[in-house]
Amino acid sequence: MCAGSPSGPPSGSGPIARAAQKRLADLRARCLLRTLTPVPAGAVNLCSNDYLGLLSDAAWQGELRRTIDRDAGAGASRLLGGEDPVFAELESAFSQFKDAPASLLFPSGYAANESVVQTLAGLEAHFFSDQLNHASIIDGCRLARLGRDRVHVFAHADLDQLRSQLNACPASNKVIITESVFSMDGDAADLPALYELAQSHQALLVIDEAHAMGVWGRAGRGWIDHAGLSAAGVVSVNTLGKAWGLQGAIVSGPEWFRQLLINEARPFIYTTGCSPWLADAALQTLKRMPHWETRRCRVRELAERLRRGLCGAGFAIDISDSPIVPVIVGAATAALDLSRYLLERGFFCRPVRPPTVPEGTCRVRLSLTAAIRAEQLDRLLRAIVAWGDRR
Ligand SMILES: Cc1ncc(COP(=O)(O)O)c(C=O)c1O
Repeated sequence: MCAGSPSGPPSGSGPIARAAQKRLADLRARCLLRTLTPVPAGAVNLCSNDYLGLLSDAAWQGELRRTIDRDAGAGASRLLGGEDPVFAELESAFSQFKDAPASLLFPSGYAANESVVQTLAGLEAHFFSDQLNHASIIDGCRLARLGRDRVHVFAHADLDQLRSQLNACPASNKVIITESVFSMDGDAADLPALYELAQSHQALLVIDEAHAMGVWGRAGRGWIDHAGLSAAGVVSVNTLGKAWGLQGAIVSGPEWFRQLLINEARPFIYTTGCSPWLADAALQTLKRMPHWETRRCRVRELAERLRRGLCGAGFAIDISDSPIVPVIVGAATAALDLSRYLLERGFFCRPVRPPTVPEGTCRVRLSLTAAIRAEQLDRLLRAIVAWGDRR
């Protein structure tokens, strides 16, 4: 507050502060209060989306630091003087990698998804959205002020319901939007079936590849590639903050869509361009991606081993090679208890509670990386099973 301005209530009192304290107390009472917690020294981090283990690879991190000589910041929005040449270089290389006509870099996957939805909404499109889509997709609908008349939410992976919704919708501009690998359950969408549905209804298919990039597909291109589809005919959102160990996201799709995003996406227009340093780091990571096949195989093998073990011990879990392993325990108190129990045994993981997941499906979401050792994985499995036996 400026010196000399009328003195208002101190920050700890007044009606707004009291309302906030009441809200926080309510969250605490319902075991839903979130806090920021660094990973305790020495603990195995099971919360990181660094699937290839790049962040804990000192040699790779050292190489990035040594070889990148770029500005840390863009200095302005890309449309207003912040257009560093490295952005176009990265976008062009990424389009080739993804086998897509055009790409555009965003400061985050959140901003990318909001932008994609808001921009397509400007074309009077109707959206058909999987119920478990990420908050950034839901918030994109909010940003575009889309009502229920234009957002058709289908039950998770329910293609019959989606088909009925598409058949019943007279609008000509339709968008089907889904994650390829879902962030909370780690399961995969049936992309070939979704693509076929999109084709038969002349709909645009938008695919959030956040958790698939780097892990599946040739050279880590993602699930679109893994599913045998071409990224040329869809829009994909490819985040760099997960398996790529960086920050930001690249939207790939038709050239007209790139141009429309540049002109109409508010989270692109009204924000500072990404860090050129990070964009260069993404270029270096892209060049190295094809060489990390062993890491991709390793993290998927670890995932399958853990899933098989949990399934054998009676936990309800699919057998797959997805490194997002949800240990669903029901109540928020149980999820908190399991995460505490594991922490005492050297494993750092966080409980996931509403509103991130539906009520009654609280979980500890384990996220595996290629840096985890087999011995650690086996110890983790034994600890979860022992916790389950105590209940
Ligand atoms: C499926 C999905 N999409 C988008 C995002 C947002 O990406 P970012 O962290 O780059 O903002 C996330 C991040 O949690 C995600 O899980």
